[in-house]
Amino acid sequence: MTHRVALLAGDGVGPEVVAEARKAVDALGVAIDWTDLPWGSAYWHEHGRMMPEDALDVVRAHDAILMGAVGDPSVPDHISLWGLILELRQRLDLWANLRPARLLEGIPTPLGGRGPADVDMLFVRENTEGEYAGIGGRAHRGLSGEVAIEASVFTRAGVERVLRLAFEKAESRRGVVTSATKSNASRFGYVLWDEVAEEVAAEHPGIRYERVLVDALAARMVRAPDSLDVVVASNLFGDILTDLAAAIQGGMGMAASANLAPGTGTPGLFEPVHGSAPDIAGQGIANPIGAVWGAALLLDQLEERDAAAALITALEDVCRVGPKTRDVGGSATTREVGDAIAERVAARVA
Ligand code: NAD
Ligand code: IPM
Ligand code: MN
Repeated sequence: MTHRVALLAGDGVGPEVVAEARKAVDALGVAIDWTDLPWGSAYWHEHGRMMPEDALDVVRAHDAILMGAVGDPSVPDHISLWGLILELRQRLDLWANLRPARLLEGIPTPLGGRGPADVDMLFVRENTEGEYAGIGGRAHRGLSGEVAIEASVFTRAGVERVLRLAFEKAESRRGVVTSATKSNASRFGYVLWDEVAEEVAAEHPGIRYERVLVDALAARMVRAPDSLDVVVASNLFGDILTDLAAAIQGGMGMAASANLAPGTGTPGLFEPVHGSAPDIAGQGIANPIGAVWGAALLLDQLEERDAAAALITALEDVCRVGPKTRDVGGSATTREVGDAIAERVAARVA
């Protein structure tokens, strides 16, 4: 069966890393029909919008979406992100954001005395509401009394589904769910979250559930990452914690992300966690591992399990023996790392 995958390379290093992910997938011999979608900041300059009006129909006609990154200094971030990635997450109701954070052999971590055995976390991030609900407004612009309101929205249904998913994931892992909230300072949204977490936890007596304030959790990720298995968090907290997790994994270029609408036929959106990295874009030095890992999550979602596992093995091997990009201690280019992964998976197929 041929899978239809929309390729949304985007801005900055997006096209550079996505090209390597695509190369690796093609080398696996999986039948994929790729559609290049030229959406992003250049598209905005030409058309006044980040993607065409029928964008949702276009992506819905695919089985999955592989994305690079969006964001360019020439377009205000709130326009580019709300015009593309956040719009896709919300309008496709991709409410579950899974971000595995594993330290691979051969990759240096900034945490002293820690190694791969200490870092194996799965972040389950709420992906469509919370602090990213997009509700608010501004009034009295430019006056000293100017006001801006950004509302957080937590619904019982939205909170419950993401908590349930976290507990399900923990069943097939080490059986620990850590829920990150801030219900000492906030009195409503995170308090609802905690209450629902207690209810879902009661249905999973085999799972050890703990509630940790997000500030304390950030410190614990650094001090004791080995104590964490599945971490479930709101949209903003999940965003911030997964940049910290990426750093612990060796850097922004290492981390991958799956945006999913579980239980529906909606195509998932797979991407590296990092952004468009304008500071290194165009130099051919971006680390493609997060994008390739994202492609492995995509293959898994398409039920190409052997291919997904082979791709993970190949990227683990390349991280262990090289070549590696400079952000993780090597001197290779993006393409050299991508070629090495593709060669390994091709050797498996041959
Ligand atoms: P960023 O993740 O792009 O970069 C942060 C740092 O990590 C930079 O020093 C960068 O060089 C480094 N880095 C990122 N990816 C790397 C890679 N593959 N290899 C090596 N180093 C890498 O975050 P930022 O600088 O805060 O944001 C840049 C732009 O990207 C902004 O417009 C932002 O809004 C956008 N952004 C988009 C996404 C997305 O599309 N999913 C995610 C995050 C940020
Ligand atoms: C991420 C990114 C996005 C987010 C931005 C680009 C809106 O940082 O995917 O982690 O905050 O979700
Ligand atoms: Mn982020």
